[in-house]
Amino acid sequence: MLRRSCLLMSAPIAAAASSSSTAARRVALVTGGGRGIGFELVRQLASADTKLTVLLGARDPARGHDSAQKLGLPNVAALELDVTSASSLQAAAATVAKDYPGGLDILVNNAGIFHREDRSGKPHAIDETFAVNYEGPRDTTMAFWPQLKKNARVVNVSSNLSLAARNEMSAERCKQFDDADSIEKLESVLQQYRADCISGPGGAKSQGWSSSAYGTSKLAINVLSRVLAKKGEKDGITVNAACPGWCQTDMTAGRGAPPLTAEEGASRIAFVATDPAAQKVSGAFWEDRAVVTRE
Ligand SMILES: NC(=O)c1ccc[n+]([C@@H]2O[C@H](COP(=O)([O-])OP(=O)(O)OC[C@H]3O[C@@H](n4cnc5c(N)ncnc54)[C@H](OP(=O)(O)O)[C@@H]3O)[C@@H](O)[C@H]2O)c1
Repeated sequence: MLRRSCLLMSAPIAAAASSSSTAARRVALVTGGGRGIGFELVRQLASADTKLTVLLGARDPARGHDSAQKLGLPNVAALELDVTSASSLQAAAATVAKDYPGGLDILVNNAGIFHREDRSGKPHAIDETFAVNYEGPRDTTMAFWPQLKKNARVVNVSSNLSLAARNEMSAERCKQFDDADSIEKLESVLQQYRADCISGPGGAKSQGWSSSAYGTSKLAINVLSRVLAKKGEKDGITVNAACPGWCQTDMTAGRGAPPLTAEEGASRIAFVATDPAAQKVSGAFWEDRAVVTRE
């Protein structure tokens, strides 16, 4: 079920904060950084800027540590972070506040899942998908919001399947997403989506929704990006959603022949997170280094 943030404490993995000038350092955090596009994104961000400390978020401490070690870059550190756990989020935010008091320059909400029963309309498939793909970015962004520096960038890793889901929806359903100008309004739309999906014969499609929980969850983070972009305006904080393209990762294994490598997908996200031209844009949906729509 869609839930509100409720943050409690738990133990983080590690943070590489040895320098005496930690307040002056630039810092990025990538969720789901242990493998796939997130792992490559950590590599690219850290390699491109040795003055940037990149925190590799991973829900499993040992695997996160191994992934950071594998990169062999001095400016990468693992950070325990399960985006579906309020206690994990609060512990991670506390660690970052302590070890990097200057705050965060970049937050990439990359962690995501594609449920094997995506179009089933089953409550557990919808809830598990939204827990990671929608509530994860929402709660992670809110947990770290107080630590975002002026002009920080938040990138929510979305998918062009968000647009495909939108194409499956009736004009009325599209308008509901378009009209959502607050998290509360967005979540009221999502509650209706969930209820209609599980309410019986015909499910989501017969009610004008997309039957893809994945696509709908990614559409939701496009809208969330637009809503949070407004919140960030006064501090120059940009919030965008970006599609990496169809990439060869564990997520797509056995599902067709993705044309892009994880490195190529990560470079599209890195562009939105670091390019000076992208800094001027907020609240948009990006694909292949270009704004496709202001969701
Ligand atoms: N691959 C594509 O073609 C494609 C296309 C469009 C968009 N995307 C999006 O790109 C992002 C990365 O996808 P990918 O292809 O790299 O997928 P992937 O290889 O399956 O990796 C997913 C990552 O998310 C992490 N994750 C899952 N649940 C988490 C949780 N509760 N807390 C923290 N981390 C969690 C995983 O960590 P564990 O190792 O602990 O499971 C893993 O690091 C996703 O948001 C995906 O929707 C991918």
